[in-house]
Amino acid sequence: MQEQPAVALDILYPSGFYSYQTPVMLDYVAAINGIAPPVAQAAPFTYLDLGCGDGFTIILLAAIYPECRFIGVDFNPGHIAVGAALARAGGIDNVRLIEGGFEDWRGFELPDCDYIAMHGVYAWISETARQALLDLIAARLRPGGLLYVSYNANPGWAAVAPLRQFFLDFTRGMTGDPVSNVATTIRHLKELRDKGAGYFAQNPAAGGVLDEMAGKDMGYVAHEIYSPHWSPLAFSAVTRQMRGAGLTFAGSADLARNYARPSVKAEFLPLLLKARDRERAELYRDYVTNAFFRRDVFVKAAEPLPRRAVPPLLEALSFGSKLRFVDLVRTIPLPDGELPLADEPFESLRRSLADRAQTIAELRADAKFAGQTIEELGQALELLVLGNQIVPFKLPSQPAAAPRDWTVPLPLNRHLLREPIGTQPYLLLISPFIGSAVPVPRGEAVVLLAVAEAGQEGAVDWSWDYVAARQLWLNVKGVPADRRDAHRAAFAQTLDSLVPRLAKFVEFGLIAPR
Ligand SMILES: C[S@@+](CC[C@H](N)C(=O)[O-])C[C@H]1O[C@@H](n2cnc3c(N)ncnc32)[C@H](O)[C@@H]1O
Repeated sequence: MQEQPAVALDILYPSGFYSYQTPVMLDYVAAINGIAPPVAQAAPFTYLDLGCGDGFTIILLAAIYPECRFIGVDFNPGHIAVGAALARAGGIDNVRLIEGGFEDWRGFELPDCDYIAMHGVYAWISETARQALLDLIAARLRPGGLLYVSYNANPGWAAVAPLRQFFLDFTRGMTGDPVSNVATTIRHLKELRDKGAGYFAQNPAAGGVLDEMAGKDMGYVAHEIYSPHWSPLAFSAVTRQMRGAGLTFAGSADLARNYARPSVKAEFLPLLLKARDRERAELYRDYVTNAFFRRDVFVKAAEPLPRRAVPPLLEALSFGSKLRFVDLVRTIPLPDGELPLADEPFESLRRSLADRAQTIAELRADAKFAGQTIEELGQALELLVLGNQIVPFKLPSQPAAAPRDWTVPLPLNRHLLREPIGTQPYLLLISPFIGSAVPVPRGEAVVLLAVAEAGQEGAVDWSWDYVAARQLWLNVKGVPADRRDAHRAAFAQTLDSLVPRLAKFVEFGLIAPR
């Protein structure tokens, strides 16, 4: 058995979907920063995901955009095999997964791309691999194309980096399952912290990060720790490297970071507003917030960047709500409290968009908003989006009612329901209207599937056979319903909790009335 530090590549990185890197989100970040999208709405595009893991994000996106092309690159053959199997099972034929190292990109016959994403990759690779990525981006991102790059950042990691060193040193020489060794080390570190070890006492952020690690998938944590390369980066360094590849900073996929007040406490606002440019503002913001992780969006543009007015760019997008009107909050979060947004036009916007996703033009056709300019509506929508309840949608949607009986129209969603991936308490389904994935608790997913497979009448029996075969019981208050009568009661209860959201699921395209 290998010693710990060499094992990272043997552990498969868990499947994950990252809404930050969806075209809808990247277009939105560009728009609020006055930058046009790489392609017109509904035009086909090419999307490249570098270090795609098992390609879960791009496979789901490929099902949402069947007319577009998605390419993933990853050098771990296990990841590519998992992704290829999922794409096959979901009937997805517009994804190409390339098994190979970044350094070899010239041999991949990559086309020009409109979007390039690198999630959780850029700070975990060698200098040579990073330079290869920059060369690839310089050569293959089209002018006007958007790049998403997320990375461990400084100053946040500065005080916490020794945690990783402890893992490396403590497990050196250990044999056995590396994932369980990571779990053992976490327990050990917690004991040190709880007894007041000086490192934790003087670097309180480290204790918080330890708790976060403990709550994550241990395979994920093992990847973070045993990655042979690991270097948190300063925003200024990344910006400089991107500039060398012909890219300019466009904005942040952490939406609050595109605005002054929503990203810093009130006392720092004057400083931020005085910053002479965006780069200086990001420097302040990183130190004010002690940034650990950044999700940056860059645009390929010959400087100066052709910034445009924001409202006309927002006008082309659709906005909708992931929640029902009654579930929407009337505030947006600030670093030091909340900003109330209860008055008009916010309340009418909430009501309209909770009903169905619409463009600004559609909203303006409604008498309620006739007195509002495009600018006023655009600004109000930007504020609502900061609350993450009104979100940019890929398409306008239609109002829907809760059906009694339904089907699951998309083959990939049927597959994701039948063969749930991972161990999270929820699974993800794709919405062709939102342009992203929607989490559905596992119990509710069983009910959704059972009604789609066997109709409302046969659903309880069908679902009993399904859960019994997998020993994956429905739960009532944490108690597994592993007898038939208990299952019947659990099914009825889960269906009841699902009913209020069924209309939304129809609106999102997850289910359709039978
Ligand atoms: C932390 S994972 C992120 C995976 C995926 N982007 C996600 O966020 O779910 C980093 C990925 O980059 C891949 N990778 C690292 N170095 C690479 C290289 N030099 N060439 C190709 N892939 C690489 C790893 O195999 C791994 O799947």
